[in-house]
Amino acid sequence: MTIDPRELAALLESRRSVRGFRPDPIAPDDLTALFTAAQRAPSWCNIQPWRVVVTAPPYTQELSAALVAAARGGFPGPDLAFPIDYPQPYLEHRRACGGALYTAMGIARDDKMGRYDAWLRNYALFDAPHVAIVSVDKRLGPYALVDLGVWLGMLLTQATAMGIDACPMASVAAYPKVLRQQLPIAETDQIVFGIVLGYADPDVPANTTRTTRAPVGDNVVVVTGPKGS
Ligand SMILES: Cc1cc2nc3c(=O)[nH]c(=O)nc-3n(C[C@H](O)[C@H](O)[C@H](O)COP(=O)(O)O)c2cc1C
Repeated sequence: MTIDPRELAALLESRRSVRGFRPDPIAPDDLTALFTAAQRAPSWCNIQPWRVVVTAPPYTQELSAALVAAARGGFPGPDLAFPIDYPQPYLEHRRACGGALYTAMGIARDDKMGRYDAWLRNYALFDAPHVAIVSVDKRLGPYALVDLGVWLGMLLTQATAMGIDACPMASVAAYPKVLRQQLPIAETDQIVFGIVLGYADPDVPANTTRTTRAPVGDNVVVVTGPKGS
């Protein structure tokens, strides 16, 4: 089977993270079709290490209330350490991404309260009807994290093709105790990220955020001989 590569490239180009959702849930058949498509993701020795718990309304709101309470009241303690220092060029990319989001939301650089409220919106799950919490057996080591990334990319692509909006979220992994108390997550698993899913609310200013990418030559180099030749 072939698909027009220009259409696929246009689909990839059109995907963006959504940070404000309408309450409408995804139909159960569509949710199943989405996760079934991502199930085809390749993984090292086909171990298929993604472990995913998906919430549906009204429970998603209950979980998000618990996450907001945890974020307001306690220090983050993710299973997997969050990065602290970003050397260049990553720092520049990170600042540009934050700048695009805060500009879209109308939050000034020195508006600490505005930034705090924007951060809390992560834990309100951007009002999404669903969140998928993704974990992996910690005994598998770093290559299983690569497998999770591949799975995530395929899931986001399939979601875009189905008109389903999403935002991957490391932030929700910052409060694993809440997630473990409420969800069937094995003690041998580490929680890596969440993904909010649903349909974008076009009236939410954050949804006008658009991020850029470096020219491909900054990341990918084609070589035709050994270094120094
Ligand atoms: C692993 C991962 C974790 C992320 N965590 C968050 C998050 O906690 N909150 C958030 O608003 N966006 C999060 N994002 C979304 C990124 O900020 C977003 O993908 C990036 O800025 C590029 O923008 P785009 O997705 O609109 O192309 C995450 C993305 C990935 C892949």
